[in-house]
Amino acid sequence: MKKKTIPLRSVHWFGRQDIYGFIYRSWTKNRGVPQDQFDGRPVIGICNTYSELVPCNSHFRTLAEHVKAGVLEAGGFPLEFPVMSLGETLLRPTAMLYRNLASMDVEESLRANPIDGTVLLVGCDKTTPSLLMGASSVDLPTIAVSGGPMLSGKYRGTDIGSGTNVWSMSEDLRAGKISLEEFHEAESCMHRSHGHCMTMGTASTMASMVESLGIGMPGNAAWPAVDARRNVLARMAGRRIVQLVKDKVSISKILTKPAFENAIRACAAIGGSTNAVIHLIAIARRLGVDLTLEDWDRLGRGVHTLVNLMPNGKYLMEDFAYAGGLPAVLRQLGEHKLLHRDVLTVNGLTMWDNVKDAPCHNTEVITPFRKPFKKNTGMAVLRGNLCPGGAIIKPSAATPGLMKHQGRAVVFENIEDFHKRIDDPKLDIDEKCIMVLKNCGPKGYPGMAEVGNMPLPPKLLKRGITDMVRISDARMSGTAYGTVILHMVPEAAAGGLLALVKNGDLIELDVAKRKLELKVSAAEIAKRRKAWKKPRPPLERGYWRLYFDHVLQADQGADLDFLAGKSGSFVPRDNH
Ligand code: FES
Repeated sequence: MKKKTIPLRSVHWFGRQDIYGFIYRSWTKNRGVPQDQFDGRPVIGICNTYSELVPCNSHFRTLAEHVKAGVLEAGGFPLEFPVMSLGETLLRPTAMLYRNLASMDVEESLRANPIDGTVLLVGCDKTTPSLLMGASSVDLPTIAVSGGPMLSGKYRGTDIGSGTNVWSMSEDLRAGKISLEEFHEAESCMHRSHGHCMTMGTASTMASMVESLGIGMPGNAAWPAVDARRNVLARMAGRRIVQLVKDKVSISKILTKPAFENAIRACAAIGGSTNAVIHLIAIARRLGVDLTLEDWDRLGRGVHTLVNLMPNGKYLMEDFAYAGGLPAVLRQLGEHKLLHRDVLTVNGLTMWDNVKDAPCHNTEVITPFRKPFKKNTGMAVLRGNLCPGGAIIKPSAATPGLMKHQGRAVVFENIEDFHKRIDDPKLDIDEKCIMVLKNCGPKGYPGMAEVGNMPLPPKLLKRGITDMVRISDARMSGTAYGTVILHMVPEAAAGGLLALVKNGDLIELDVAKRKLELKVSAAEIAKRRKAWKKPRPPLERGYWRLYFDHVLQADQGADLDFLAGKSGSFVPRDNH
């Protein structure tokens, strides 16, 4: 019996030989598209986050042209379209507030249009998870292409890294160690080419997640944005997506549980951003893959940080690329039984096929597994009365001597309270205290801002104190560092015990035992609970209201509750 072939989605638009087909084709032809592009070949949507408001993605028009060239070479029909783009530097109150909104834009744009497969152009932090979340809910063949990191920052003969040196230089300025002129000069030296932050911050981490999940091409994580090989990668992705459509390899066939497990271990090996925890859980939940905080804790054990990159180390993404990039890291994981070797990747080969011969050209940048840059550094998930739903700490960015610590709480009720009091010389605080910041979680901020790495009080900085235990329901920039406990669940604004902590309370941290406890009696907690008032939404209408009413806690990826899962790539009925 002859096997029935299912036509591509796009045929429901471009393949019609009636008035509607006329409409779909004729308007598309207005920019010079020949008739043969409508012959049933795969239509590839190039989902572009180009925006002048998102400096990290400002070269994406060029990148899209390279994807298009690849699609055409492989016999596909490329159609580029814009989606909401999110930049870390300009968006207020935080780009994270809009990650879920952008994912809805991607999901609906893909489903509503004649698209058979998609290439996602991602770069700045939130553009990667938002596009992957949206695409996962549609489940078409998909490849993500990252825009690549900027060249290394160069300042007075030394390398400086995005974010990381902003934190240290702003603390130096506050402590009077550098002048305002030097500070301004550094601004011009730090970001001197196209691309995203060139430390192993959230953008580089997410680009590494793209590669280790197998949803990006080998080399995706590290080639600089301005390196010709980045454009080659985009072109090859254009060629491959056409084949993925022909082979019906949808995103859910790539993003399986073993693929996520590979990514979690890769995140530990690169000393990746804590933000990856939230984003990977959110993407997995769209696909129906059961990924939890426990997976992060379990899989990260026994993995060492191999790369010596800022913010944990010395080098930058450009050095990482020249040293061999992520394939050299994944190869070592594979050699130590820390990689699912046989998972399929978008170039049609298995993960192990892609990395088994990957060379390492610089063992200072990519250290050997037996002599790693830092030992046992996977994310640690803490539990206790302060965070029954979990909280995380990134040991590779923390001070070893503070991993077991008991201290007196110095509490800031919100970020405004923190800014108001932190510089006060009379603030009652010493280096043994634990800084506690409330109301910066998904609902509390709103959007869960990257303020968890609170700057230390100037009076302690001047004494040479460089780290203290800090606790909050916020996130932390991937470029930041310190003994910082984040993503407390439940957050203060959702009624977590964090909301009830007071100045002077004793808090006990024991990372080895995965414990975080508030040492206050049950009777006292009950008394404080009675006095606690539930916060109101920050705005009564619009997206902010929708977000406030529906956002989930950090352990569930801070997605909107009604966005979990996927609706698939069904063809909506037409409007004629
Ligand atoms: Fe865009 Fe850092 S600001 S990646």
